[in-house]
Order: sequence, then structure tokens, then C-alpha cells
Amino acid sequence: MKVLVIGSGGREHALVWRLAQSPLVESLAAAPGNPGIARIARCVPANVQNPEELLQVAEAVDADLTVAGPEAPLVAGVVDAFRAAGRAIVGPTKAAAQLEGSKIFAKRFMSQAGIPTARFVAVETEADALRALDDFGFPVVLKADGLAAGKGVVVAGSREEAEQTIRGLLSGKLVGAAGSKLVVEEFLTGEEVSFIVLSDGERALALEPTQDHKAVYDGDTGPNTGGMGAYCDSRILTPEQRQEIMDRIITPAIEQMRANGTPFTGFLYAGLMMTSAGPKVLEFNVRLGDPETQCLLHRLDCDFAEVLLAAARGSIGDARLAWRPEPSVCVVLAAAGYPGKPRTGDRIEGIEEAERAGAAVFHAGTRSGPNGLETAGGRVLGVTSAGEDLAGAIARTYEAVRMIRFEGMHYRTDIGRKGLKRWATVQR
Ligand code: AMP
Ligand code: GLY
Repeated sequence: MKVLVIGSGGREHALVWRLAQSPLVESLAAAPGNPGIARIARCVPANVQNPEELLQVAEAVDADLTVAGPEAPLVAGVVDAFRAAGRAIVGPTKAAAQLEGSKIFAKRFMSQAGIPTARFVAVETEADALRALDDFGFPVVLKADGLAAGKGVVVAGSREEAEQTIRGLLSGKLVGAAGSKLVVEEFLTGEEVSFIVLSDGERALALEPTQDHKAVYDGDTGPNTGGMGAYCDSRILTPEQRQEIMDRIITPAIEQMRANGTPFTGFLYAGLMMTSAGPKVLEFNVRLGDPETQCLLHRLDCDFAEVLLAAARGSIGDARLAWRPEPSVCVVLAAAGYPGKPRTGDRIEGIEEAERAGAAVFHAGTRSGPNGLETAGGRVLGVTSAGEDLAGAIARTYEAVRMIRFEGMHYRTDIGRKGLKRWATVQR
């Protein structure tokens, strides 16, 4: 079968890398892809915000199966366009993608379905937002309603910071039109877990749990990013916790979406806080996570193309996912300036050495320059390895990380350490 992957980041490189290993896959294309993807797939330029353009690419490469990586094409309606043209695609419709496209939609949906989440109010004016602050105390969480590439959420520690953020969001200064409406919500504490399922609209197949590291600096300090690294280890959740998440969050979500006439198909990502009162949803995403996908697909031990095709055809039936027992770790190498405006054009060296040492090096913000590979975005590479245990996976990944260099490169040195700490405490 001919497969098309939409997107150009590390998640999409990992998708293409895993699909290239499937005996079912005869050819692979990506729109628009990146230089890492170009080594294993045909890259076709395209604007991922434009469903019609993406459909033309799928027709040009005669794709039997398409997978959309990022949220933008999904929220723009790429699945609706493909289905209308009779092309198989994995992802939610435009209506279902509102679960990620609008935080207010998602919060109201959770109330409707009885899904545990932080207490909230939706506001559109400064006066209402300031009034809402009195109901929550500090810290308080302020969220832009629309898509803001991970920059629309601020945890404000004081009234002064909250007021400044509210003005910045509502005026459009912080994230543009995405901030014209806000969610003000209760601050939750606990461990964060990314729990992703693949749904055909009726059933849901759970992937392994992962943990992302959103803050830019070690020890979860500094501003939030799209994700500075992740690890995948089955011990992140006990079987009982997984069951509770399925029963209280995933199944009610899938059933309510069906009942509302907008069945959810594709990857549903629940960003969870494991609170003392059980799991609560921080956010829904309507796609795979980045960098969660890099470590997930590294651990996957079955034919991903087969499972994706079943989902795209509308029935995951009795499809199963299999995983290697060894944990995996992905460390993101970021460019100077990230998560602010990243500097570009810095020459990248050492990838081959890291690959020879056994790591998978997924490209994200890279481009081919006159002197070779150079930086072209905030998150540049995702270095991914497995190990016999989490400590081993961490050690192997950082060994490969140290072989790669570019001017201004920065990364967190503590990816996965949360897991080590948690299990050290449990065993004692
Ligand atoms: P979101 O995009 O909604 O997942 O928010 C981004 C990040 O902000 C999350 O990964 C959390 O680290 C943090 N966050 C969001 N909502 C809350 C909350 N209600 N309480 C505490 N932290 C939160
Ligand atoms: N890593 C978080 C996300 O993909 O939204």
C-alpha cells in the first residue's frame, strides 16, 4: 500500500520511520516532510493548513492510506475533504477536532460527559475574567480558547501576573485571535501523564502511557514548550489506573462524541493530571503527541500500518498493539532562543555518529543548507533510544545526544528522571 504522512516534525519522522518497516507498505510520501524524512520517503511540498492541497498531494502519490500528524490540518477539515473524495485517512473530522481546536468546547464537552477535569469558567471580557479570579485563588490557570502551539496556557502565581496575562491574551498580544476567549481554571497538582488511544468512533485501543517534559529547563523550570523530551515505560500507570482512565475518561468521551453526532476517529490524546482524587483531564488533543510519538513508536512491536489501515477503514475490530518491554526515551535538542524565536542556520554535526551508536535521530527543525544540514526551527532533533530498564534507556540516549553538536544547542539533562525517582520511592 502507498502511504502519505502529513506534517514535518519529529512525530512525523517517527511515523514514517516505523511505517517504512512494514511489509505492507510499498511506498511512502510526506507532505511536506523534512530532510530526515527525505532519506526514507518522497517529500512533496504542501501547505498543511489547506485540505484541498493535501488532497491533491494524496491523489498525486495515489495514497491508499494517509495519516495526519499535526492538529492544524485536522482542525481545518482535512479528514472531511479526504472522506468526501473516498481516500482513507486516520484522524478526526473538523467537528470532532474541536476537542483540541477550542478549549471552551472541550471543557463544556467534559461537563456534558461527566469527565473529571479542573473546575473552570469560560470568559470573553476582562471584567468577567477578573471577577473569575476571586473564585479560584492562586496559582490559577489561564488558557486561550484557540490553537496556540503550546503557548496559550499560563499558570499565574499571583493576582498581578494573572491580570497581566488576561490583558495580554484578550488584547491579542500574547497569542493573537486564539486568545479572544479564555478559560480560567483551577490549578491541579500531581504527576502528568499522556494517555493516547486510537479510535474508530466506537472502540478505543490504548497506546502505552508516556510522560512528556513541557518546561524548557531541568527540574520543570522555565516557560512551557511543545515538549523537551518524553519517555515510555509501562510502569507509568498500573493496570488499575489504566482501567480507571478508560472507564472514567476515554469510554465516556468516545460515547458522548457518538451521541452528539460527531464520532471521534483517529488518535485521542488525553493530557492527564494524576491527582489524589484520581485522573483529571488537563486537555484533549486530537492527534499523537510530539515528542511522545518518538518514544512510543520506538517501543512499538507490531505492524503499525495494519492497525492504521483498520482505523482508517472505520473498524479497528480485534486489532492489537504489541510493545517491547524495554522503556524508551526521547531527548529533544533545541535551537538557541527556543521557546522564544529560535535562531536558524546553525550547522548540525554528529548525527551519523549517534545513529551508529544505535540511536534513532528524528528530525524536526532541520533543513539542507549549502554546507549541509542546519537548524531551521525551535525543536531541531529528537534523539531516541531504548534500554534494558529506564536508567539504561536514559544513559544510552544521552550518550548519543553528546555526539551531536550545533551552535546554541540546548536540551534538558533530566528527561525520565521523574520515573526513576518515583520507582525508587515505591521500591524502598
Ligand atoms: P494544556 O495545553 O492545557 O495541556 O496545558 C499545558 C500545560 O499547562 C500542561 O501540560 C500542564 O503542565 C499545565 N496545566 C494546564 N492546566 C493545568 C491545571 N489545571 N493545573 C495545573 N497545571 C495545568
Ligand atoms: N507533547 C505535547 C503535545 O504533543 O501536545
